[in-house]
Amino acid sequence: MSNLSNDLVVRFENVGLRYGLGPEVLQDIYFELEAGSFHFLTGASGAGKSSLMKLMYMAMRPTRGLISLFGRDVAITSRKDLPNLRRRVGVVFQEYRLLNHLSTFDNVALPLRITDTRESEVRKHVEELLAWVGLENHMKAKPATLSGGQQQRVAIARAIIARPRLLLADEPTGNVDDRMAYRLMHLFEELNRLGTTVVITTHNQQLVERLAHPVLHLDGGHLHAPTRSRDTFDSGDSDSDDDQIAMPYDPDVLNYL
Ligand SMILES: Nc1ncnc2c1ncn2[C@@H]1O[C@H](COP(=O)(O)OP(=O)(O)OP(=O)(O)O)[C@@H](O)[C@H]1O
Ligand SMILES: [Mg+2]
Repeated sequence: MSNLSNDLVVRFENVGLRYGLGPEVLQDIYFELEAGSFHFLTGASGAGKSSLMKLMYMAMRPTRGLISLFGRDVAITSRKDLPNLRRRVGVVFQEYRLLNHLSTFDNVALPLRITDTRESEVRKHVEELLAWVGLENHMKAKPATLSGGQQQRVAIARAIIARPRLLLADEPTGNVDDRMAYRLMHLFEELNRLGTTVVITTHNQQLVERLAHPVLHLDGGHLHAPTRSRDTFDSGDSDSDDDQIAMPYDPDVLNYL
């Protein structure tokens, strides 16, 4: 097996992580994510889901083992190249991490504005996406004036606006009602259909059972091999057929990365 395969977006080999002098919170982690895959990441509170996500978006280095992203060994990636790698990854942080001095619109526009996107295009895409997540009436609002679920949707819009190659969403539906949770999941699935590799952390067992994606499960510091949440895809089972899911922007226009 080639560790430089273009088809592997993430590769962990014998990875361990400890904070300071504490015990290893992640042990002997080995897994691979193929391009275009969609996984749930589950595990009890404190199992290490966010820690695993942090390793995947290069916020931390592992205590031991090898991590490759897009076929590149992260440990030997130069400081100069890290921003390039990071730009390919969209992250929905568990605690949102919105920029408090910026409006909803400007928070979401950020990933497009650091590319050379024309402002008229930025406006079009941001407005469409914000309407899709139900925030069309809150574009000028600052994060502090939004509810938790509204802030969560801003964070999601910001993470996906530039069509990242890898989307890491940490409990992205933890603060919204069921209907919005499924609507957001469909948005992630649509992004995935357009080529983005997706990992979603969740405590929502119903979501995991209803949507047919393999599950990575953390328990006792170990990652258990993917199991399918259902044996077969059954698209007729969804009660959200009334939500005509179309990506709120033209995928061909958004070829930034
Ligand atoms: N910055 C830190 N310093 C020290 N220990 C930490 C730090 N962050 C996490 N931990 C520890 O690592 C373990 C895993 O935490 P992590 O946040 O990854 O869990 P989680 O699965 O995301 O939990 P939750 O479902 O509650 O979000 C916990 O025991 C936690 O106390
Ligand atoms: Mg967490």
